[in-house]
Amino acid sequence: MVEEVIQSESPAKSTAHHGLNGHSQPRRMSEISGDAEERIPLPIGEFARVLGGGVVPGSIVLVGGDPGIGKSTLLLQMSLEMAAPSKKQRTPLKVLYVSGEESERQIKMRALRLERLEDGAEPVFPEDLFLLTETNLDVILEHIAALKPDLLIIDSIQTVYLPDLNSSAGSVSQVRECANRLRELAKSSGMAVFLIGHVTKEGVIAGPRVLEHIVDTVLYLEGDRFQSYRLLRSVKNRFGATAEVGVFEMRERGMVEITNPSEAFLAERMVNAPGSAIAVTMEGTRPLLVELQGLTTPSNLGNPRRTPNGVDFNRLLLITAVLTRRLGLRLSEQDVFVNVVGGLRVSEPAADLSIAAAIASSMRDAPVKADTVLIGEVGLSGELRWVSQMNARLREAAKLGFKTAVIPRRIRRGEPLPEGIATIEARSLREALHLALLEPNEKVGPQE
Ligand code: TYD
Ligand code: MG
Repeated sequence: MVEEVIQSESPAKSTAHHGLNGHSQPRRMSEISGDAEERIPLPIGEFARVLGGGVVPGSIVLVGGDPGIGKSTLLLQMSLEMAAPSKKQRTPLKVLYVSGEESERQIKMRALRLERLEDGAEPVFPEDLFLLTETNLDVILEHIAALKPDLLIIDSIQTVYLPDLNSSAGSVSQVRECANRLRELAKSSGMAVFLIGHVTKEGVIAGPRVLEHIVDTVLYLEGDRFQSYRLLRSVKNRFGATAEVGVFEMRERGMVEITNPSEAFLAERMVNAPGSAIAVTMEGTRPLLVELQGLTTPSNLGNPRRTPNGVDFNRLLLITAVLTRRLGLRLSEQDVFVNVVGGLRVSEPAADLSIAAAIASSMRDAPVKADTVLIGEVGLSGELRWVSQMNARLREAAKLGFKTAVIPRRIRRGEPLPEGIATIEARSLREALHLALLEPNEKVGPQE
């Protein structure tokens, strides 16, 4: 137990400036350059994609995520890449990696693990990569002034502190004030800053939430601890699209980019097994094929279980209710489990039809046709509703060799649908399931 004395912050210590101090000048908008931000290319493509193309000098980026998810690993990999002598024309950057969590040795050992060579020889580390283990931000700022790095990593923002504030490291006022200092430095010097922040389950105390409005870009690294896939998601980006996603896999030698995620997520699929359906969801601008699994089993509980893994609980309740009322499936006596393969989370209504199909398929013991994807939102009357970006979804399904897509009926004849995949339009959930499910135990699918 640590006693924490709560003091009101004295106004003198706040960073707010009053009056003119000569730092800023009004400028004519016509005189300001409107060229796109210059970006430093980042060799890790999936990371660059989420950032909007590369690292913007003078920007400050927050990378949040649960402890142990791989934040330090990913940013160390980035540091190694950025400080490496240019493989293309890019000049190597001077990188400072500040850690308040691990010792220099620990970081070196991780770097050795990441860069291990096949023949067991000692890897060569870039000259321009510096490590600093320090938590006092005043000291860190002095080192920055002396070293003048182009890229700064702070691992983590919860461990650094300013001695003149009377609260402990990780408290809201410390986290906010430290981030503000680093931000001012980034803006004035052109150094790019990456802050690592932990989110706890409850996420309130000094979680990265308090930082979201201070930084330019907020990325979250997510994934199931017991699964190896990691999604890097941008939830705010002043220099690019939000909701963009990069996919990685945590392997023996760090985070490996998955450039074709749909293929990876479908790799272990059992074709023609009842209770499996393929959904096409959009993650930002990228369509992603995922397998949804449903399992129904007779319940001996008065209030049968509804257990979603990776889909929203209320969405599952709604879909089971529609299946019960509109299709006469007797789910009220069944426990229902739904699982998204690969540890992914699917929150889009466009996956409704696949969730419903996975459940109905298990209930009837009838597999979904192997070369078919299902796309559509399910309404309360059991109707199917159109979803956005249908063409991008269909193209991705076609690319992965799917022959047929069951989709909602089109109300507006807009853009023609892409070629390479046959589309069957269904008005209702009942119709769609009739088209997509094989007869029970009719297990000779086209690609068994
Ligand atoms: P880490 O980057 O330390 O997580 P964070 O900084 O988000 O807390 O990653 C920790 C986990 O990653 C740890 O359980 C070990 C695993 N790991 C690998 O599987 N492969 C690797 O090459 C490395 C470096 C770590
Ligand atoms: Mg870490």
